[in-house]
Amino acid sequence: MKVFLVGFMGCGKSTKAKQLANLLECTVIDIDAVIVSQEGMSIADYFAANGEAAFRDLESKTLKTFNYPDTCVVATGGGLPCFLDNMQWMNENGITVYLEMTPPQLGSRLHNREKRPLIKGMDDEQLLAFIVGKLEERNPFYHPSKLAINAFDLEPKALLEEINSLKG
Ligand code: S3P
Repeated sequence: MKVFLVGFMGCGKSTKAKQLANLLECTVIDIDAVIVSQEGMSIADYFAANGEAAFRDLESKTLKTFNYPDTCVVATGGGLPCFLDNMQWMNENGITVYLEMTPPQLGSRLHNREKRPLIKGMDDEQLLAFIVGKLEERNPFYHPSKLAINAFDLEPKALLEEINSLKG
């Protein structure tokens, strides 16, 4: 089983991926972390040096060419499902889970804005307005996930039970 966690910046994909992989005793893969280690630079530096379009090509290529073990949990970047055919590819290759949160919940969790190029330098008010607009734009891409679940205060065991119940 491969589980792909998708959702907006700050919804806890990386943390939940680690917790889930712990419960399943399997490997965790973070697509952003794979890019950082392959490119030898942060995502913010990659954006600054090459622009967003180059980043989107690279994240799609990384998603589709990574040598995944049979069982693993994959944390994806917040924009990854919204570009190219990435969402379709994930749905064909594993179980997609949308970790949903409301804009205020996301805003309250996005403290480290400097490392995220799309929200760098925003104050709280600007951030909330950005989240509301971007989430509306991105929700149609996130929602073809096999499972959508509110991720605020979500216990890893409850998440695993929901995923297992999909398999009937
Ligand atoms: C992005 C989200 C980031 C990272 C990049 C772009 C986005 O990942 O991939 O900064 O477009 O929402 P996180 O969701 O892990 O912050």
